[in-house]
Amino acid sequence: TIGPVTELTIANRVIAPDGFKRSATLAGGIFPGPLIKAQKNDNFSINVVNQLQDKDMPLSTSVHWHGIQQQKTNWADGTSFITQCPIPPNRSFLHQFSTNQTGTFWYHSHFSTQYCDGLRGPLVIYDPDDPHKDLYDVDDESTILTISDWYHDPTIVLNKILGPITNNSTLINGLGRYPGGPLSPLAVINVEQGKRYRFRVLGLSCDPSYNLTIDGHIMTIIEADGVETIPETVDSLPVLPGQRYSVIVHADQPVANYWVRVLPNLGNQSFSGGLNQAILRYKGAPEEDPTSSPGPSTLPFNEAKLASLMNIPAPGVPEIGKADININLVAGNVNGLFTINNVSYHNPPTPVLLQMLSGAQHPSDLLPNGSVYELPPNKVVEITLPNTGAALGGPHPMHLHGHKFAVVRVAGNSTPNFVNPIWRDTVSMGTTIGDNVTFRFVTDNAGPWFFHCHIDFHLNNGFAAVMAEARNQLPIVSESIPDTWASLCPTDNPYTAS
Ligand code: C2O
Repeated sequence: TIGPVTELTIANRVIAPDGFKRSATLAGGIFPGPLIKAQKNDNFSINVVNQLQDKDMPLSTSVHWHGIQQQKTNWADGTSFITQCPIPPNRSFLHQFSTNQTGTFWYHSHFSTQYCDGLRGPLVIYDPDDPHKDLYDVDDESTILTISDWYHDPTIVLNKILGPITNNSTLINGLGRYPGGPLSPLAVINVEQGKRYRFRVLGLSCDPSYNLTIDGHIMTIIEADGVETIPETVDSLPVLPGQRYSVIVHADQPVANYWVRVLPNLGNQSFSGGLNQAILRYKGAPEEDPTSSPGPSTLPFNEAKLASLMNIPAPGVPEIGKADININLVAGNVNGLFTINNVSYHNPPTPVLLQMLSGAQHPSDLLPNGSVYELPPNKVVEITLPNTGAALGGPHPMHLHGHKFAVVRVAGNSTPNFVNPIWRDTVSMGTTIGDNVTFRFVTDNAGPWFFHCHIDFHLNNGFAAVMAEARNQLPIVSESIPDTWASLCPTDNPYTAS
């Protein structure tokens, strides 16, 4: 565990989280990376130091703090080619930002598909005045449950595969097993009978979506993506790449071991021999694998029921299509590349923020051509994401940087909710043709913000766009930009920050 003022060293190391040895790209030398643990209103000062050396994987890096809104600090968002140039080997970059957000977040590489090679970890901002504390006050709320896929080949190799890429294993808290592999240790979550726990569940996956169940136990959702929710009890929880939840688990069963199952939507879906599982261990239970079985589902997850505890209505006129700015983003696929409104995203040679700051060209000339949506300040923006079935490989978890947004229409439910929608930063586009997921936010945060599918292989294949927001308010952002920021970029780039 590290604090909000810290150094985060990115280096290569050989690890075997599922029993198979491979070189990985790691934050702090471990997988997942160290928990960054902060308290509400802490100031963050994180120096990312690039010590990468393994030439079989990308040598540059950048680290993004997923879900942190970076109000007035777009430059610190950590997105290569959007808000900064990648950090070359033997260089470092200091991220300084503050937030009043609380809840469950994570950090990951935002350079190529590097986070699939290991660079991902949890970030939690604790709230001393947590409105839900009475529901779990016997625990120190320290339980973390990260769910990730894992690959035996570096992504440089995987990215050359035409067609679907499948993970070799699933890791919970960085431990797992693969089919035919050794009986590697599994993650153990320790509980005491009679107590209530807040589990923070983090979807750190590069590709599969996972459905979480715990044999013999139900879960009460109290947080989604850093937003407190009205408690909602379920017996299964879909966790898409990039999404986070807090759930309350009551250890109210006989003292024993129970399987924690995370069923992936692709790859090997078996639970035999401990695949896709961790162990919930009651104090006093023997140290052995559980023999529990899953029960029937009686409390399925219903996304439309998620509501923010603070009851914040969606901004703007409460009718679909009646925001100040209404943008329809149609996802597709052309020759293996993903598209949004027929354009496949490519990294620009110069970060979008530097282009915007230089003021050198007309907004519509901003690169990447056709992927940049210019948004004026202080407007209500509505984004609709019609699911035409053309973008294969869903459900696509669509993530917007710089904001949480009000999901006024969720997948699988055509009735909009403007009254008490859930606010989050990563939403499923749905799996049914005709789903038309819709969300809103206000353009109160200047800078270019990445919008993309959080399946990292899809992002790498162009499933992204850039929301270039409130250009005329960028001077507020430039005030805090450190000198080292522009110096990461090649000196022969045609732009300078003015
Ligand atoms: Cu968690 Cu642009 O990403």
